[in-house]
Amino acid sequence: MTALVPPSLELYDGWSACVADFGATHMDGSGYHGPPADTSVAGFRAYVAARLGMADPAWEPPAGRVPCSFAWIVEEPGSTDVLGFLAIRHRLNDFLLAEGGHVGYAVRPSRRREGHAGRALALALPMCARLGIDRVLVTCDDDNVASACTIERNGGVLEDVRGIKRRYWITAPAA
Ligand SMILES: CC(C)(COP(=O)(O)OP(=O)(O)OC[C@H]1O[C@@H](n2cnc3c(N)ncnc32)[C@H](O)[C@@H]1OP(=O)(O)O)[C@@H](O)C(=O)NCCC(=O)NCCS
Repeated sequence: MTALVPPSLELYDGWSACVADFGATHMDGSGYHGPPADTSVAGFRAYVAARLGMADPAWEPPAGRVPCSFAWIVEEPGSTDVLGFLAIRHRLNDFLLAEGGHVGYAVRPSRRREGHAGRALALALPMCARLGIDRVLVTCDDDNVASACTIERNGGVLEDVRGIKRRYWITAPAA
């Protein structure tokens, strides 16, 4: 089973273990870019507050950013293990239209190939619909077989390949 839960201060231990599992690899959908995550309690608190704030319709994004809802992938609501990350960008800017898409996700290395990404993306689609996103753009690198499978299994229709990016559209179920 797979569930999506909002970032939560109660999941510090599970989050820390998840981040350690990713090591230096990129945690798509976590909202981390660039330097390694600050895994101190203070760093975690700031991270959670910032990510929750980005989903607030009142949040005014800096140039190049858009409002975004973050979720953590767990086995079921109440689980303390964090299995991965997922992000839903509320609208597309030029970069997201060309490359990033609406939804990004990653599953921690030790928990891959258990179906979590496929189920997490399926759970994200009605969330997209509730945000007013009827057609969901999901992209992946051309050589990312696992992500391409995840998208196609969820009804993704390939529009094109731009550079190294495969660009798929998924019709979100009615909200
Ligand atoms: C892509 C990723 C999220 C897939 O996570 P996962 O939980 O292992 O995926 P699932 O178990 O749900 O598998 C999804 C599909 O991919 C297939 N798959 C998974 N890993 C695979 C691999 N290494 N090679 C080939 N196919 C693979 C599965 O068989 C499944 O296909 P099916 O639905 O036809 O059975 C994970 O590999 C990951 O986090 N990668 C790094 C970050 C990343 O690439 N994120 C996506 C950015 S676009």
